[in-house]
Amino acid sequence: MKKYLIYALALVWMGCGSGMPDHIEECPSIIPQPSQMMCFDGSWSSEAGMTIEVNERSKEEGEWLADWLDKRMGARPEILQKRSKAPGKGNIYLNVIKGDTTSEGYTIQVHPDFVWITAESGHGIFNGLQTLRQLAGAEFEVRGGSTLTLPFIMIEDHPQFGHRGMLLDCCRHFMEPEFVKRYIDLLAFHKMNTLHWHLTEDQGWRIAIEKYPLLTEIGAWRTEEDGSRYGGFYSRSEMEDIVAYAKRQHITIIPEIEMPGHSVAALAAYPELSCRQVPVEVEHEWGVFKDIYCAGNDSTLAFLKDVLLEVMEIFPSEYIHIGGDEAPKFRWEHCDKCQQRIQTMGLADEHELQSWFIGEINTFLQQHGRQLIGWDEILEGGLPKGTAVQSWRGMDGGMQAALSGHAVVMSPTSHCYFDYGLDATDVEEVYGFDPIPAELPDSLHRWILGGECNMWTEHAPQETVDSKVFPRMVALSEVLWSYPESRNYGEFHRRLTDHYSMLDALGVDYGFECVPIQINARTGSGGMDVEAVAQLDPVSIGWSSAAMPEEVMDYLGPLHITGRQEMVFHTQWKGKTYGDIPFGVCFHRGINHDFKLNYAYSPFYTGGGDSALVDGILGTTNFRDGHWQALQFENMDIEIDLGAETELNGIATRFYQYNNAWIFLPTEVVISAANAAGEWTEVARLKHTIPLEEKGQFIHEFTLDRAFTASKIRMEAINIGKNPDWHDSPGEPSWLFCDELILK
Ligand code: ACM
Ligand code: ZN
Repeated sequence: MKKYLIYALALVWMGCGSGMPDHIEECPSIIPQPSQMMCFDGSWSSEAGMTIEVNERSKEEGEWLADWLDKRMGARPEILQKRSKAPGKGNIYLNVIKGDTTSEGYTIQVHPDFVWITAESGHGIFNGLQTLRQLAGAEFEVRGGSTLTLPFIMIEDHPQFGHRGMLLDCCRHFMEPEFVKRYIDLLAFHKMNTLHWHLTEDQGWRIAIEKYPLLTEIGAWRTEEDGSRYGGFYSRSEMEDIVAYAKRQHITIIPEIEMPGHSVAALAAYPELSCRQVPVEVEHEWGVFKDIYCAGNDSTLAFLKDVLLEVMEIFPSEYIHIGGDEAPKFRWEHCDKCQQRIQTMGLADEHELQSWFIGEINTFLQQHGRQLIGWDEILEGGLPKGTAVQSWRGMDGGMQAALSGHAVVMSPTSHCYFDYGLDATDVEEVYGFDPIPAELPDSLHRWILGGECNMWTEHAPQETVDSKVFPRMVALSEVLWSYPESRNYGEFHRRLTDHYSMLDALGVDYGFECVPIQINARTGSGGMDVEAVAQLDPVSIGWSSAAMPEEVMDYLGPLHITGRQEMVFHTQWKGKTYGDIPFGVCFHRGINHDFKLNYAYSPFYTGGGDSALVDGILGTTNFRDGHWQALQFENMDIEIDLGAETELNGIATRFYQYNNAWIFLPTEVVISAANAAGEWTEVARLKHTIPLEEKGQFIHEFTLDRAFTASKIRMEAINIGKNPDWHDSPGEPSWLFCDELILK
């Protein structure tokens, strides 16, 4: 039916007084792309005395439009309440008609005689007004003028998904209330409708709760490594103000109160809520921590219910997010009360205990007319009835939930984690996202409510958030609004290019669309050829050695490196500087020989494939840069066949440690050599003195600086195997990461 609506509108136009302008092919750039558009030659311009006509159900949107015009035209149009069904000449008419009040669709007609937006709800009208803003253009948005000019157009538009959101983590870094409001504006402008507000974490409790003042007196503040204090929280009146602000722009705020994990800040304020009941500090490191709410303690549940009561007083959203992710079960395994609960409730294990815990909270929320949503870990141990799942560890959790009749919001790390670098997820990848898993039967598509992008802020203080969210969120807004058959990346990219002027007008400090260069390194004659290929147009490229990053040279063509060179590429696009792009190569004597891997590397960290350890390409301090090869469970064990007895000057090999990510240096690296007869001898055992507890992300180079002869070389790096007992995820399989075995 909707398909033909636009033709019906065209017939209405023919009946109107001023005649029909000529139909044209070229339409203005609008993001997200409207469902249907017909464009016509010419434009409508406002005249003095223009009024906004509203009916009973579009009054608020009329006020919003009047305010918006007032700021840009320096005069607030009068708002007239109308009874007739047709717009008055020269006016803007916002008409809510009878129908589905949850519908967010609208039609907009810019006709020689009037501008007419029709919808079945105020939200639909509001979405139409966001389209009107894009039709008015960036110049009017930023500088305004005495006349509003809009191209002649007819649009029929409605979203594919009802849930189009963004998570903003205000815990790892605190975001000022004005900043949160600005994001509400930006979401609304892109016809998104949900702000998922992440309010409690290990590193800070940000929501004032009257009954438990220590949550913000203690829990909102952490002591950083350098001794400084960091924190902040939202008072009740600030949150109420933000909720009211969001409501006016038809943005639903879903608060997230994490449980049972990610709760160290709350436990710092009230240690009696934890299993050990001993004082802990608000965390200042990033990661997953063992101390979580005690599920065996009745007063913990009573506390959480009290907190949720206040949360529900502030936030009217249907859904309340309770987290549920990344809750290590270690404390529960060693807690008498938790074990007692498992016994008395007849539960099989700690996973069922989590399921029971979530079930209690679910019942409580439902008693108060709300729905529970949690991360996909809430599936483990059984999903309580009526709960919704937010799938982040891929789409499988969401798929499983949909198959069992649970509502789903999709935000897989593969497409929706905007805290990740562009090397992990660039705009084109976001645009390729489809929240509906290909294998999900058509009859179950309705369970997929939509999707969200997640802006976690461990590495993103407020002033950097724009550059991570934009322009990726622009792509996501179209993915969630439009239908897949209407999407084409090239065509979207053309509109995105136009859209930058709008983002500039809105003061968005957007970042890059993708990593601006692709670096290719090949072994050439007697060295390595390193080439930087521009991925954006135009992008300027410079490079320097890593040792002297300030001495930047223009990149004029492939670099021929005969030895070892760690370098940094510097790029600029639209006057913006992309962060340093480090790259290292080493042309060494292990390259171009046969080799054998006595292990299976992870498909997630291939380092580029079998030859990763002898390809001459060094990894960087970003273990996801594609040059690190990694494995769990086994030792890394490689043999290189040099073809003939060869005198070597030594060996260097590089491993990585980042214990928060379960990555540890090997306990030792054993080097053996075989002579031409194939007889093996051990050459060296390379050890290190770095504690496993050493924090941060770093590379350690194991070296052997002495000459020896070999026909074959073998390196065995001994994996520690499991995370140590002191680790926050003890006993889990640790990772071994290596980028190269350099034969000197
Ligand atoms: C998550 O990223 N831990 C939901
Ligand atoms: Zn316990």
